[in-house]
Amino acid sequence: KFEGLATTPPMGWNSWNIFWTDINEEKIKAMADLMVSTGLKDAGYNYLVLDDGWMLKDRDSVTGDLVADPKKFPNGMKAVGDYIHAKGLKFGIYNCAGTLTCQGLAGTRGNEYQDARYYASIGVDYLKFDWCHSEGINAKDAYTTMSKAIQKAGRPMIFSLCEWGNNKPWEWGKPVGQLWRTTEDIYQVFDGYHDYGTWKANGVMTNADLNEKLRSYSGPGGWNDPDMLEVGNGMTMNEDRAHFSIWCIMAAPLMMGNDLRKISNETLSVFLNKDAIAVDQDPLAIQGFRYMQKDSMEVWVKPLTNDEWAVCFLNRKTSPQNFQFNWKTQTIEDTLVHKTLDMNSTVYNLYDIWQKKTTGTTAKPFSATVQAHDAYFFRLSKKAK
Ligand code: DGJ
Repeated sequence: KFEGLATTPPMGWNSWNIFWTDINEEKIKAMADLMVSTGLKDAGYNYLVLDDGWMLKDRDSVTGDLVADPKKFPNGMKAVGDYIHAKGLKFGIYNCAGTLTCQGLAGTRGNEYQDARYYASIGVDYLKFDWCHSEGINAKDAYTTMSKAIQKAGRPMIFSLCEWGNNKPWEWGKPVGQLWRTTEDIYQVFDGYHDYGTWKANGVMTNADLNEKLRSYSGPGGWNDPDMLEVGNGMTMNEDRAHFSIWCIMAAPLMMGNDLRKISNETLSVFLNKDAIAVDQDPLAIQGFRYMQKDSMEVWVKPLTNDEWAVCFLNRKTSPQNFQFNWKTQTIEDTLVHKTLDMNSTVYNLYDIWQKKTTGTTAKPFSATVQAHDAYFFRLSKKAK
């Protein structure tokens, strides 16, 4: 794979969660425009990724290349990529390791080198590679072949492994790509599942639970991916904030998945919260973890650079809960990076990331009502902010 890419978790926007295959040139251009005009690009969201549905079922009968759906993309994919690049953004695209994509369009199997050359020729910077119609093929081999094909084509691309976790991509994905899905698809419910009838998608915290266990595999150039964000797609504001907080604590890729033409100011303020983003993108680059669970209240922590820490109090109940946390009696050890948050001997300043202000220190116990599916999100530092 190309080294030096995704040294911090990738950030951007992907078409799948909100549009499924209902994408076209006009919509994608609108998303590119809005990523710039709303300040999202400046905040770090720089990849614009087209998911399933951009291509036809059949390849070009002469060249064998993938063909953009002419109804959706009448000017072809290079024109889309050029537009995205002209906005200062990076261009991402999708295909699948199997014979067909999950939506029954042309897959890559057997055409890896040809497709990689095609992507390089239209200026692709990011490839998401799915796992439908993959019967009888070995996941590690299939993703390794595509990774080598990208390398051979010569254009640096982030390679996003979308295998859903059954073949444990975290165990072999590091030399192959920059991120790997650890879970089935996400859905805009906070907990539990969404039943489509023939299959189930996971609530946000279901994915967080699965991803949390895998922290030792994640790091610069190779990230656990608990799937794209559902912020702005219909959950409550509390749930959106909690979802975003936990993704930042887990150093997860931050790929927005909402319709930016309809984004509310509140949703935008979640995406643009620079202190939350700074936790996700922190240079220590370590996935945080769940430190404790009590009565459906959870404490999540992430060590940060310069001996700072992020701490999140999350209420997983559907009703408010009173919560007390006596910082001074806690010593939190991260055995993975050998860091200790010792609040017994050191007093930390508490910066509340959602309220955007310093709210006190760890000398005094935290005591508050945490709303249903809401989260407090703090940055602890020795210096006042
Ligand atoms: C399954 C993936 O997990 C989704 O993120 C999306 O890419 C769809 N396939 C597209 O068909």
